[in-house]
Amino acid sequence: MIAVGSDHGGFALKQAVLKHLEKRGETYHDFGTYTEDSCDYPDFGKAVAHAVAGGEYEYGIIICGTGIGISISANKVPGIRAALCGDCFSAEATRLHNDANILALGARVVGEGLAMKIIDTFLDTPFSNDERHIRRISKIE
Ligand code: RB5
Repeated sequence: MIAVGSDHGGFALKQAVLKHLEKRGETYHDFGTYTEDSCDYPDFGKAVAHAVAGGEYEYGIIICGTGIGISISANKVPGIRAALCGDCFSAEATRLHNDANILALGARVVGEGLAMKIIDTFLDTPFSNDERHIRRISKIE
């Protein structure tokens, strides 16, 4: 189950992401925003982060204009490791090394095609479970 959220800057990309998740056969919940009206990215970053930290959702996908504000907001929630990715290498590495549980995207930074490939890479890459990565992640908390 995937928690998805965006501000107005990420709204259009979020709608495309929801369709992409449907095509992949994923179940998800859309935490908003639901219109292109101006809104505040922390409201949606935190809503998704709390949903993931609560354990009901395996992953989150959050989107704002740059991906920066919403990822900063999500990372304030204990247990959340939100990774802002603009390329597939980073998306793969953050799953393998950081066991990132939220993917953040910048809708004004990446095109739709690249965004979907980043999402596929993130969702399809398992955590490495390497001892050194487990140790490093434990030092974050
Ligand atoms: C909204 O204009 C914009 O500031 C927001 O989407 C995001 O980029 C903030 O980090």
